[in-house]
Amino acid sequence: MSGRALIETGADAITRWIARLYFEVSYRVLAGTAGREFLHAASDRDEPAVHGYATALDIQALVEALHPLRGETLLDLGCGNGEVAITIHRRTGCRVIGIDAARRAVTEARRRAANVGVQRSVRFLVGDLGSPPTGASAAYALDSLMFARRPAHVLASVSHSLEPPGRVFVTFVDHRGLDRRAFARLIEGTELRLESLDDVTPELDARSRKRASVARRTIRARRSPAGGLGLLLVLAEETAVMQLIRRGRLRRWRFTTIRADTSSSPS
Ligand SMILES: C[S@@+](CC[C@H](N)C(=O)[O-])C[C@H]1O[C@@H](n2cnc3c(N)ncnc32)[C@H](O)[C@@H]1O
Repeated sequence: MSGRALIETGADAITRWIARLYFEVSYRVLAGTAGREFLHAASDRDEPAVHGYATALDIQALVEALHPLRGETLLDLGCGNGEVAITIHRRTGCRVIGIDAARRAVTEARRRAANVGVQRSVRFLVGDLGSPPTGASAAYALDSLMFARRPAHVLASVSHSLEPPGRVFVTFVDHRGLDRRAFARLIEGTELRLESLDDVTPELDARSRKRASVARRTIRARRSPAGGLGLLLVLAEETAVMQLIRRGRLRRWRFTTIRADTSSSPS
């Protein structure tokens, strides 16, 4: 390995380690009263109260892309606090297995599922995106795949672990400047085929604005500093996201892939 490649690999590993630490901390600090108040206030009534960026539009697009049926099993890759998995189960009757590398996220997800009595149908495991359990019919990864070292390879191996046609629905925040063609090429370098690809950056922008404004309001309204750290973290993150979008350096994509060796025709 060349010196430059070694440095890049090291920098990549450090970045992923920091992201992992960030998630553990943020799930911990947002599990308190202030954090829950914030997540609830920052989501519309028909949206899951998530740490990530999933909106009602994502849930709608996911259900339309994967058509989950009652009794089928879906994988939620990078499930976070479990709200998306619970929402999908309630809407469609399918079973969901959520996987996340952050222990705290899985603890919170299990607590939420038990609270609403769906813990038999919606299960959560600590694990890596690249090593999903088998037996599912389709999968989704909402704003998690970009944290994998080789997202396209993870996508391909997940796809092969599913029943044909191995459909995977993804939302992906990119900071590497992939445009539509480069993005499509990235997927085409694997054994996958793109069924759909949409630039949904304006949705990310709107969501960030709302979360920043709710975080500011919640910080001001609280008389005690308890929970303030979590909200300051949210505010810093959303401010950075809005700046990067404004400079054209951050985009959010929504896409669906299937295995190229299956006969399903594109929608
Ligand atoms: C931005 S959050 C999104 C969470 C959830 N999908 C949502 O929409 O609310 C990204 C999640 O991906 C998880 N994650 C990142 N890299 C992962 C990996 N290699 N394996 C499993 N989970 C991972 C993080 O722990 C975090 O919970």
